[in-house]
Amino acid sequence: AKLALIAVAILPIAVGFAWFLGKFSRAAYRKSLSTLSGLTAKIQENLSGMKVIKSFVREKTSYEEFRDTQDKNIDANIKALGISASYQPVIFVMRVTGTALILWFGALMAISGEITIGTIVAFIEYQFLYFMPLMDLVTVYDQYQSAMAAIERMFDLIDTQVEIEDPPSEQAVKINTINDVEFQNVTFGYDPNIPVVKNISFKLGNSKKLAIVGPTGAGKSTIINLLARFYDPAGGRILVNGYDVKNIKISSLRRHMGIVLQDSFLFPTSVKDNIRFGKPDASDDEVVEAAKAVGAHAFIMKLPKGYDYIIQEGSSNISIGQRQLISFARTLLANPKLLILDEATSSIDPYTELVVQNALKKLLENRLTIIIAHRLSTIRLCDEIIVIEEGKAVEQGTHEELMRTNGLYSAFYRMQFREGGVETMPAEA
Ligand SMILES: Nc1ncnc2c1ncn2[C@@H]1O[C@H](COP(=O)(O)OP(=O)(O)OP(=O)(O)O)[C@@H](O)[C@H]1O
Ligand SMILES: [Mg+2]
Repeated sequence: AKLALIAVAILPIAVGFAWFLGKFSRAAYRKSLSTLSGLTAKIQENLSGMKVIKSFVREKTSYEEFRDTQDKNIDANIKALGISASYQPVIFVMRVTGTALILWFGALMAISGEITIGTIVAFIEYQFLYFMPLMDLVTVYDQYQSAMAAIERMFDLIDTQVEIEDPPSEQAVKINTINDVEFQNVTFGYDPNIPVVKNISFKLGNSKKLAIVGPTGAGKSTIINLLARFYDPAGGRILVNGYDVKNIKISSLRRHMGIVLQDSFLFPTSVKDNIRFGKPDASDDEVVEAAKAVGAHAFIMKLPKGYDYIIQEGSSNISIGQRQLISFARTLLANPKLLILDEATSSIDPYTELVVQNALKKLLENRLTIIIAHRLSTIRLCDEIIVIEEGKAVEQGTHEELMRTNGLYSAFYRMQFREGGVETMPAEA
């Protein structure tokens, strides 16, 4: 009975040890995973920032930063492996200790004649038998810790709050078109304490075109982020067809919007597939037609393989003007009711400028439009102008009205005109 006690008493100690190690190994696995994500982020950062790194001759520092991150990952992995590798030896030591104790007390008892040698041998056998599965169990426990650390990270990701959600299904309004858009005293800040859009109001219907003008950082892109419901306003309301956008099913809202962003993103696939992105069932003829309409056909035909030319990751094998034209063709093909355009600020050569302007004209035809405009030639395509400064609408009206008020807009106009901006281009006539 005493021997049985010894043999069994070792068990809780062994389990205790394993549990104790488990705490450390979970932490170590967590660390190893987080350093791994740091490492992947660094790789991504260095690859996409390659040109900037080279042009600022920062190869060496970037390399050293990368090596540091990598070392951290290696250290964390070695630590986790170390703990994981110590499970088996710890259990093994426990087993041997058990055997030694059984031998010691068994021998004493055998000498005093309480038990026979055979009983001792049997006990040692038993002890062996129950420690074997324990060894396996511990290995499984270690794997469990590693898996749990990974699952924790996964749930962290899944639990991330969705900022914008569809309205509850019984309230959701589905719209079939967009006829008008209205901002009513809209206020918003990415940080709730720092508003970047303040009390903005405007109403737009009947294929009207609104130009949003203002200095950099004024909050122009933020206004369209709100309209597309990437964020919700903190104050005021945004109405589409008279419904608060919060009550409109998001997919039905965005389906009728064509959004062309400041940096027109292209997917790393063929030119053709990029153009038909918004209308996947479009035929090749439709793709070509859209490209022709925006004046992109000519340059696409000059690309190797034409419409089957593959755009590289980051659109590095195509010029910025070409990228814009392709994204215009993409939007034209999708044929949205409401066009939202965040005009690129990048300067392009006067000829491409002309092509882009003509493409724009085509894109705006019979469409409700909101353009964040940087070029006067674009502004002139619009019916109404709203001038934003530090989140506030400081001026609002037609080109003629704003010129008469002699405010920010007229100053902006004169500045561009003096610098020989596109206003002097023949396309304006
Ligand atoms: N995702 C974001 N998170 C936090 N702050 C942001 C975010 N996007 C923009 N901001 C901040 O909000 C303010 C308005 O930015 P916004 O992009 O609307 O300017 P903009 O008028 O479009 O400027 P630009 O003409 O340079 O495009 C800026 O101060 C900017 O730093
Ligand atoms: Mg912007």
